[in-house]
Amino acid sequence: MSGSSSAEYVLGTNPRELDRLGFQHRVWANAAFSLWDRAGLVRGAKVLDVGCGPGFGSFDLAQIVGVEGLVVGVDESEPFIEHARGQARSRGMDHAHFGVGDVARLGEVVEGMGLGGVGFDLAYCRWVMCFVRDPRAVLESIRGVLGEGGVLCVQDYLGYVSMGFAPDVPSFAPIVRALGEAIRSFGGDPDVMRMLPNLAAEVGFEVSFLDRIQTPAARPGSLMWSWPATFWDVFLPRLVELGGVREAEYRDFMRDWAEISRNPSAIMHLPPVYEMIARVQ
Ligand SMILES: C[S@@+](CC[C@H](N)C(=O)[O-])C[C@H]1O[C@@H](n2cnc3c(N)ncnc32)[C@H](O)[C@@H]1O
Repeated sequence: MSGSSSAEYVLGTNPRELDRLGFQHRVWANAAFSLWDRAGLVRGAKVLDVGCGPGFGSFDLAQIVGVEGLVVGVDESEPFIEHARGQARSRGMDHAHFGVGDVARLGEVVEGMGLGGVGFDLAYCRWVMCFVRDPRAVLESIRGVLGEGGVLCVQDYLGYVSMGFAPDVPSFAPIVRALGEAIRSFGGDPDVMRMLPNLAAEVGFEVSFLDRIQTPAARPGSLMWSWPATFWDVFLPRLVELGGVREAEYRDFMRDWAEISRNPSAIMHLPPVYEMIARVQ
């Protein structure tokens, strides 16, 4: 693992995280598709899914580009890549390939897969930059494997710790603080989108689109309300283990979370997700 990556994916690779990533992909799939479409994704394209996890986005991309295209997913978490490879086999998707490796060394990883010199048309990177130690190195690495006119699509957080509730849930304050600190302590940045457009320009991309993704308001009972809930299930017990949150703080919040989830007039302010399209200059 290089200096750009965390020691271990902070959320782990267990079946619950795999299930959470699948649900998360479904809830955010429309936003992903809109961005790919805006970036000019076409059938036959050669696409790189940077930090693909178990490949939920990769398989949508593989269906879009079709067998005349190519999708390559790269992730440092071996269990996720094993899962993706199994899926590719069982779906008979011979044009979807998956490799274990650091997204700051994509050139080496695709070379090792026998796909050096492909010159990708599009690279997609969702919720990965917030976990890496050196986003500039990752942008440079992506630029190095894109072909002429290749395009990078990123979706990631800006202002993660602005997450909260109306009416206020005071027991959430220590939790959201600890979430931000945990991401930073593993080398990531929960505000990474603040720096990415400038960094992209510095490493030779032309940023052509930048916006905040509009999502439906998260109201109790909605899918958007369940999105962070699946995250609490996976990560809050881990935060208690790691000492970032005290057992009593966790218990208080889970009690208040159950209560606000029964309040039909409640709203949750979700962590804002921004998106960027940047083209190789
Ligand atoms: C929140 S998941 C997102 C997965 C996928 N992009 C998606 O949107 O469903 C973050 C992924 O980034 C991967 N990751 C984090 N740092 C990495 C690095 N330096 N190199 C490769 N993968 C990395 C993790 O293993 C994990 O699968």
